Amino acid sequence: MTDPMADLERQLKPYRGQFPSFRELPAEGLARSEVTGLVERLASAEDRAWRDGYASGAVYHGDPGHVAFLSQVYTAQSQSNPLHPDLWPSATKFEAEIVAMTAAMLGAGHAASEAPVAGTVSSGGTESILLAMKAYRDFARERRGVAVPEIVAPVTAHAAFDKAARFFDMPLVRVPVDDDFKADLGALAAAVTDRTAVVVGSAPTFPHGVIDPIPEIAALAADRGVPCHVDACLGGFILPWAQRLGYPVPVFDFRLPGVTSMSADTHKYGYAAKGSSVVLYRGRELRQFQYYTLTDWPGGLYLSPTLAGSRPGALSAECWAAMVSIGEKGYLEAASRILETGARIRDGVAAIPGLHVLGDPLWVTAFAAADGLDIYQVMEDMSHRGWSLNGLQRPAAVHIAVTLRHTLPGVADRFLADLAESVRQVRSNPGVSTGMAPVYGMAATLPAEVVRQLLAGYLDMLYEV
Ligand SMILES: Cc1ncc(COP(=O)(O)O)c(C=O)c1O
Repeated sequence: MTDPMADLERQLKPYRGQFPSFRELPAEGLARSEVTGLVERLASAEDRAWRDGYASGAVYHGDPGHVAFLSQVYTAQSQSNPLHPDLWPSATKFEAEIVAMTAAMLGAGHAASEAPVAGTVSSGGTESILLAMKAYRDFARERRGVAVPEIVAPVTAHAAFDKAARFFDMPLVRVPVDDDFKADLGALAAAVTDRTAVVVGSAPTFPHGVIDPIPEIAALAADRGVPCHVDACLGGFILPWAQRLGYPVPVFDFRLPGVTSMSADTHKYGYAAKGSSVVLYRGRELRQFQYYTLTDWPGGLYLSPTLAGSRPGALSAECWAAMVSIGEKGYLEAASRILETGARIRDGVAAIPGLHVLGDPLWVTAFAAADGLDIYQVMEDMSHRGWSLNGLQRPAAVHIAVTLRHTLPGVADRFLADLAESVRQVRSNPGVSTGMAPVYGMAATLPAEVVRQLLAGYLDMLYEV
């Protein structure tokens, strides 16, 4: 068997020996034209996979006209930093409007309470979730006298909740999901105690793309007097339009009185450039628990709303530009195309002998294998055909998150044909694999600490020149 880590290193460092690399600053700077030439060559070497629809998620819009438009906006605002609102009041305009438009889309106008929905822009889904969990920890400590506030979340909630739990010293109570991979309500109800800082539901979940029973979770939380966070990082900019289009989507947003906060990623189906998300709260008071202020620092009065200090104002300008240029009609049309393609892919996967779809997804389809077929080998065979899919575990599965790239003519058919061919190929050559398949295989059998060390070694590898 080949050494999977060595295989991975080869995959991660394809430019070694082919491009100039630097371990120290060059004694004299390179000509700008040389630098831009190098950077453009790297970009064009990497464009193809996502541009031609071979990637799950990753680039959600990617149309050349849209990308050029965002880049033009970035150029115009490249020096902006919202940490200095006196210098760049435009940054605060963009951010306030991004928050307002996202809140309105997610039911703020119909909110069942008087408290206005308030929020901030963050750098991505993970940061939005970290911020909300930190706000709930401090809220629970200060307002409810809970010494060690806990997060209650289904096992399928994003890893960012685990990250938040560890960063902020909050025990995470993971509850199981049912046969459809949705939060088990009975288990959730049993897990909520006086120590609960927040109950979490996802709309939809990252692994299986299914929507937790949000109305029931929100009602349970309200009934027990605890807050409820809906993670709509993936679905925030699809589900409102899916509802309008008549897809079977339960109410999942601020229209439910029990929902006290939400995360929704503008840099996914909001079609902004990477580095942008929105976290929303029912009421300004909760948002205040997210803020950081320092009053006695020799550096002056310090205040920042999110985790970072200085922030890239250009990304908020881009995000705002994406939202106002696409508008309701554009988002509705995009969602319609994505949902139609998602259904074709889901049904097509289900029709491939040996594969089955997990749960009842709309546009993020997870599938597993039966009859001794190794799904990770299928994923790997797909990668040799150019596809970049996401490996899942517990149970072993793979998913594809459909984006606008997959709605281009021929892409969904090519995916289904390649997948059927991969399944045939793996059936006739079981056990032949390199790269991620054996790593996933090992992860399922090795002790957690050994897997942790493997993953840390992988991260170390990223920083080797
Ligand atoms: C449901 C869900 N929550 C949170 C995240 C985290 O988002 P990010 O990768 O932007 O930090 C993701 C990412 O895919 C997600 O699907």
